[in-house]
Amino acid sequence: MSIQLIKDDAPSWSEIYDWYTDLEAPFTAAQVEALGLRGDQTVVDIGAGSGRLTIPMARKAASVTAIDVLPGLLDRLRQRAQREGLSNIRTANLDWRTIEPARDLDRHDVVVASRFDGIEDLMKLDAAANQRVCLLIFSGPSTGALHRALLQGIVREAVEPQVLQPGFTTIFNDLCDLGLDPNVLHIMDGFTRSYANVDEAVEDFAWILPDASFAFNLRRNLEQFLTPDEKGVRFLFRTRSTLLFWDK
Ligand SMILES: C[S@@+](CC[C@H](N)C(=O)[O-])C[C@H]1O[C@@H](n2cnc3c(N)ncnc32)[C@H](O)[C@@H]1O
Repeated sequence: MSIQLIKDDAPSWSEIYDWYTDLEAPFTAAQVEALGLRGDQTVVDIGAGSGRLTIPMARKAASVTAIDVLPGLLDRLRQRAQREGLSNIRTANLDWRTIEPARDLDRHDVVVASRFDGIEDLMKLDAAANQRVCLLIFSGPSTGALHRALLQGIVREAVEPQVLQPGFTTIFNDLCDLGLDPNVLHIMDGFTRSYANVDEAVEDFAWILPDASFAFNLRRNLEQFLTPDEKGVRFLFRTRSTLLFWDK
């Protein structure tokens, strides 16, 4: 097996996020289904990124406003929307921390904040919604945890303690304290892809390596997530997401 790595071509953060988004795609439909969107509803996706959920939500709702603080991610989102022929997505390059609902942002029927670590003010989310607020949170290992698992023994930071976001139980308790009475739905989640053989899997993940000489370590790290399937081998990293939602 030979792995070509040209570090000048190392993927950007948004390319990495999109790569994981594709790996998660078989599980994403269940997350969107759980939101219970209707075709007459307007949605705002806060911290939309490059549109992991915005795109599938736009297929179900009347329209989606995607807010993100990073303009580069919104550029990617618009490109994806165009490729998918979706014309009901509007993007807004805004910082949620400085937004005042009603003044800077029209109320939307449904407010969605997924894997968004800038929530802080839960009542502000409530104020932005006409009908429903949905918070989607990893309640199993996150994308970052997967990334670190693949880099064990390769990059020192992979074993250093990471700053954890407040878990869903903390947010659940805060919502209860505020009298918002959230519903809780656990959703099976994961990252998966099939390959002809282990070499092809290692090749696909090789962009993660700081240096091609670590290919052996990567193979060892990957093997724990590979099982035979009809195509050859299947990579599967299981996790879980939890949806907290309340109606108004
Ligand atoms: C982990 S990503 C989640 C993307 C997407 N919601 C998903 O579920 O895949 C978090 C996103 O929130 C954005 N973000 C972080 N702080 C923000 C803020 N204060 N205002 C708006 N967007 C923010 C980041 O730029 C990033 O795109």
